[in-house]
Amino acid sequence: MTVLETLMKIRENALERLNANNDESELESLSTSILGRNGELTGVLKGLGKLDKEQRSVIGAEANRIKKELEECINARRAALKEIARTIRFQQEAIDVTEPGIQGRPLGRIHPMTQTYRLIRDALVGMGFSVYEGPEIELDEYNFTMLNLPKDHPARDMQDTFYINDSVLLRTHTSPCEIRSLLQTEPPFRYVMPGRVFRVDEVDATHSPIFMQMEGFIVDKGLTLADLKGTLDTFIHAVFGNDVKTRLRPSYFPFTEPSAELDMSCTICGGKGCRACKGTGWIEILGCGITNPHEIANCGYDPMEWSALAFGIGVDRVANLKYGITDIRYEYENDARFLRQF
Ligand code: DAH
Repeated sequence: MTVLETLMKIRENALERLNANNDESELESLSTSILGRNGELTGVLKGLGKLDKEQRSVIGAEANRIKKELEECINARRAALKEIARTIRFQQEAIDVTEPGIQGRPLGRIHPMTQTYRLIRDALVGMGFSVYEGPEIELDEYNFTMLNLPKDHPARDMQDTFYINDSVLLRTHTSPCEIRSLLQTEPPFRYVMPGRVFRVDEVDATHSPIFMQMEGFIVDKGLTLADLKGTLDTFIHAVFGNDVKTRLRPSYFPFTEPSAELDMSCTICGGKGCRACKGTGWIEILGCGITNPHEIANCGYDPMEWSALAFGIGVDRVANLKYGITDIRYEYENDARFLRQF
């Protein structure tokens, strides 16, 4: 085979392979094997020096023409393959705006405790109360001392306390809001005071170290137990319906005198007696009383002139009763399967 024939063969062969190729990286190795330093065509070009002068110029010119032709072919191929890849990518990335969207995005729900809180709050706001909020980190002075619970008072043991230092603690109830509001606001007023409270308690079906209370506090002149009973009845009926009965049972709290607990007829058996009410037909729902004159005096008001009545209610307890929840832990674990039911 003459050198010219070899050249033609290389050209034909290369064009055939280039035109059959459809892969970008394969194209590059093909290009190297033809035009690279050890490529087929390069081999021939290197051998040109051995030819005589006349042949060299003819064959050299032909070899350079073929080289250029193949280079152009490779470049065209490269561009074409790039274009194809781009088109495919665009097709894959295309968004069909006519497709229907994701149907029915899951909706969050209001937590049963929040629902209950709002129910109680709205009932009281409807009775002329305003919302007053105090801090969760509280002074011992407000949480205990000024509520008529001095340092050595045995009733401090009723509430196991998280102390931050000697004089600062996590509030054990919302009652310190009574002190704050009295120090801050000129009576008469009526406040509902919601918030988280904290006690050293092991977690079980009826205890949690963090829970939610709401304090009701009315300061005015000449308030009596009848006002307390009337206020509580109105509010309990707003929350649980008009069929529930209530009764005040004598009790003891240092910040009230007299003190009472409010029972309501069991919402589960309607008062006949069942497991939930331990057969009594009654369920204890809140603590209350006529504010102790010491507390009013501690806040700088004359207890002969001003009177107050107060009650404290556990929001989780009301939520449990209202929704028939048997374990307080459900209220705080935020298991979506539980929350979805409300
Ligand atoms: N602070 C009391 C507690 O957490 C509840 C309470 C009882 C609040 C009687 C009151 C009240 O305002 O008058 O156990």
